Amino acid sequence: MSIATDTRPIILTGDRTTGPLHLGHYAGSLKNRVALQETHRQFLLLADTQALTDNAHDPGKVRRNVLEVALDYLAVGIDPAKTTICVQSGLPALAELTMLYLNFVTVARLERNPTIKDEIHARGFGRDIPAGFLCYPIAQAADITAFKATVVPVGEDQLPLIELTNEIARRINRQVGHDVLPEACALIPDVGRLPGIDGTAKMSKSQGNAIPLSAAPDVIRDAVRRMYTDPHHLRVDDPGTVEGNVVFTYLDAFDTDRDAVAALKAHYRRGGLGDVAVKRRLEDILQALLEPIRTRRIALARDPGHVLEVLRSGTAAAREVTQATLDEIRHALGLFAVEFDAGSRSAAGGLPLYPSPHP
Ligand code: TRP
Repeated sequence: MSIATDTRPIILTGDRTTGPLHLGHYAGSLKNRVALQETHRQFLLLADTQALTDNAHDPGKVRRNVLEVALDYLAVGIDPAKTTICVQSGLPALAELTMLYLNFVTVARLERNPTIKDEIHARGFGRDIPAGFLCYPIAQAADITAFKATVVPVGEDQLPLIELTNEIARRINRQVGHDVLPEACALIPDVGRLPGIDGTAKMSKSQGNAIPLSAAPDVIRDAVRRMYTDPHHLRVDDPGTVEGNVVFTYLDAFDTDRDAVAALKAHYRRGGLGDVAVKRRLEDILQALLEPIRTRRIALARDPGHVLEVLRSGTAAAREVTQATLDEIRHALGLFAVEFDAGSRSAAGGLPLYPSPHP
């Protein structure tokens, strides 16, 4: 289906290219994206310029991980014939939209954003916040609106960013007097965020508590062995706690046999079921889940030329879409340089000194 005739709702989502993706990404977003590409016009953004906002000291890492994340996408079943995978640094319209949107948001509004507040704290920026970092929510609003996405699958922590995006869209629409930008809805995954194997709130590569999608079988085995369970469940016969027990959280996320999981939980609570037995079941499930992903990933990595071509053609298609939106916004705002565009209303009659975009 060509872009012009595809009337399905538009999705934009993406990932900062700071490291290969892990099981938490799979449960929280990748699995959904594989399903959503059947029903939506889906764009996936490899957000390398956004990654620079807190990694300017290591652009090499950001660059290398564009291919790593692309391999992860393709390995889990994102199909480039159905989903457009594009690289942010190849889409200059996003930067130009960001420059325009900066004028529709106050610094105070950015500083009040709870997502940003948490992130500034977590990164220990103190008062030395890179301007690009403080403003990345505006750049993200540019990403979303440039594709005219109405559906944005993101984690719950990103909700304030969608709110800001819609505020910008409303402000611009009000300013120009018509709805040039649609508002977007967040699509929050129905599974909660997957904890790290150590039981801390979030699986993250930097915490060393993640299972990468490319993990070898012995890495998976070792991770499951080290997984946090119930520290008070010392003997097999002791009653155990299921809540906060990472092994059960993962079984909830990945074991499709709900009845079996319910029975295991009951047995564990009663006592008489050892951690080793539950972990063995989980390990089998994770090995079976990750084996085909790893195999595909290895095969794809042998042909980087193919992956590069997927990114090149996806980025070219995305460039058209994002440039078209930028052109619309430039026209709607009546920026002077639109007078130079071919076919401009006033081009034939010379440049008006006081252009009025809405006669
Ligand atoms: N912020 C997202 C992340 O941290 C990446 C991202 C960039 C994104 N632009 C986006 C997500 C637009 C959704 C929509 O991984």
